[in-house]
Amino acid sequence: MYKVRKLSKTFSKSKVLKDISLDIAKGERVVIIGPSGSGKSTFLRCLNGLETYQGKIFFEDMDISKNEFKKIRHKVGMVFQSFNLFENLTVLENITLAPLTRKMDTPENIYKRAREFLQQIHLEDKENVYPSSLSGGQKQRVAILRTLMMDPDIILFDEPTSALDAEMIDEVLNLMMDVARKGMTMIVVTHELNFAKEFATRVLFMADGKILEDDTPLEIFNHPKTERLKAFLGKIKH
Ligand SMILES: Nc1ncnc2c1ncn2[C@@H]1O[C@H](COP(=O)(O)OP(=O)(O)OP(=O)(O)O)[C@@H](O)[C@H]1O
Ligand SMILES: [Mg+2]
Repeated sequence: MYKVRKLSKTFSKSKVLKDISLDIAKGERVVIIGPSGSGKSTFLRCLNGLETYQGKIFFEDMDISKNEFKKIRHKVGMVFQSFNLFENLTVLENITLAPLTRKMDTPENIYKRAREFLQQIHLEDKENVYPSSLSGGQKQRVAILRTLMMDPDIILFDEPTSALDAEMIDEVLNLMMDVARKGMTMIVVTHELNFAKEFATRVLFMADGKILEDDTPLEIFNHPKTERLKAFLGKIKH
């Protein structure tokens, strides 16, 4: 699905991504871990066409460096730490806006699907409220639904639970597991290592703008190879 070749990114002289090359296949569930400032968000932002960069990124063989990203934007969903819902739109309006604008289906079908999704996450009674009256966990689940409504080929998550209180984290992680079970390709930056063990088919450990380890969760968590990963895992509870 993605082919990344010698991807580098420089912010005013400092190189924050250094020659990253990797492939991500359909159906993979990739978790990215690594210390703060290692380039995790920048990497996701490059995959999502939100940054300029050196090197090449192909999405389904289309070179997105050539400003072609617009053509595939709707195929790549993105969920941010800060939810990014439209505060002036209701829940139902938030999740139907893009499919209606893109005329993905008849309005009747779009609303029907949106209501089915809301029912699945037990928020059917919230369709007419504004995001400000939702809890953080509810907002993030609505943000995930909004992405699902676009029928993306892949969803990128940047620390989707790190702005949430502890008791709301599980409801978001559970929804992500449900999405995964349906076969969605997903790339998730998270510090929730227990979730990563269960969820991921593959874990990338980033440090200093490089991918230092790229392996199964079992290998990453039970047999870390680099000193950097050993130190990182030692610092973070799991
Ligand atoms: N817009 C920007 N302008 C200048 N420097 C930036 C910009 N965005 C990120 N950086 C720098 O790039 C480096 C990587 O940042 P990035 O946000 O990708 O790290 P991260 O791994 O996501 O960290 P965190 O775990 O704290 O979210 C950092 O040194 C950061 O200061
Ligand atoms: Mg980040």
